[in-house]
Amino acid sequence: MPHFPQYRPRRLRRTEPLRRLVRETTVQVEDLIQPYFVVSGEGVRRSVESMPGVFQLSVDELVSDARSAARLGIPAVLLFGIPDEKDERGSSGWLEHGVVQEAVRALKHEIPDLVVITDVCLCEYTSHGHCGVLHNGAVDNDATLELLARQALSHARAGADIVAPSDMMDGRVGTLRRALDADGFHDTAILSYAAKYASAFYGPFRDAAGSTPQSGDRRGYQMDPANGEEALREVRLDIEEGADMIMIKPAHTCLDIIWRVKQATGYPVCAYHVSGEYAAIMAAGQMGWIDPDRALTETLTAIKRAGADQIITYWATEFARRNGGREGAS
Ligand code: PBG
Repeated sequence: MPHFPQYRPRRLRRTEPLRRLVRETTVQVEDLIQPYFVVSGEGVRRSVESMPGVFQLSVDELVSDARSAARLGIPAVLLFGIPDEKDERGSSGWLEHGVVQEAVRALKHEIPDLVVITDVCLCEYTSHGHCGVLHNGAVDNDATLELLARQALSHARAGADIVAPSDMMDGRVGTLRRALDADGFHDTAILSYAAKYASAFYGPFRDAAGSTPQSGDRRGYQMDPANGEEALREVRLDIEEGADMIMIKPAHTCLDIIWRVKQATGYPVCAYHVSGEYAAIMAAGQMGWIDPDRALTETLTAIKRAGADQIITYWATEFARRNGGREGAS
């Protein structure tokens, strides 16, 4: 390789057209998935304090926001339900006319080309806020599986294109695949939160979803952020059980995991830029300490550079708006 003064890396950094010409990674609007929090009622648009620009929406408001997102070229949305009633088992999670089920029906009816992904987990629906049923104070893995299958089936019946289990129970991907197939939903895909870490960065989400555990924490089922090899084992297991796409979560603190999983599997890898990662940037922006638009764009670009094919981000629609819709930009 030539050295200075023959080779001058700055030659190709002089102007924006030159930089654009040699740019390696460009975040496209088509890469982004917009998450939404759905509540019952009509005309409800409640802002989430710790997540500027994010709202709890009733189905009618959701359809209106999702329509704008779809017009800007956002290909997919991810739905979280906030039910009116919670109980020990999270039984409002599999109601035929639950909030998420109604939201899926409305979206598929109004915007058929928009891909609808549903989060499958009990924590938004249980009174204790854990991701499964409790037995002697601990989450009972095997008893939870059947309930997750009921929930996933109710989403598939409503028309979900993809179900995304985020509970981190062992064996859930296989259980969901068998349940979906047994009911004829061979074409409903599974996006598995394969490597989901017990992260401090989920705080604002739990405000938005009202899902903070009443006692203890999630370290008994979510992964230790110190572990990388284990993430690869989790991913392999989920692929063997029938996962179609792999999720890594959080994204910004797991760029190495995203890279390794993409290299090792070649599967579609989806990275979740989570609530706390978003909130940290927005809060620093509100303080005037950083430029949030640039910081978010840089972060999304880094996540894509690490190997993510899709990125779930609360900023998806805003990114699309700022970058002129479908064209995308970096
Ligand atoms: C449900 C779930 C959580 C998130 C996605 N699905 C919360 C949690 O595990 O506590 C977090 C998403 C975010 O922070 O943006 N289990």
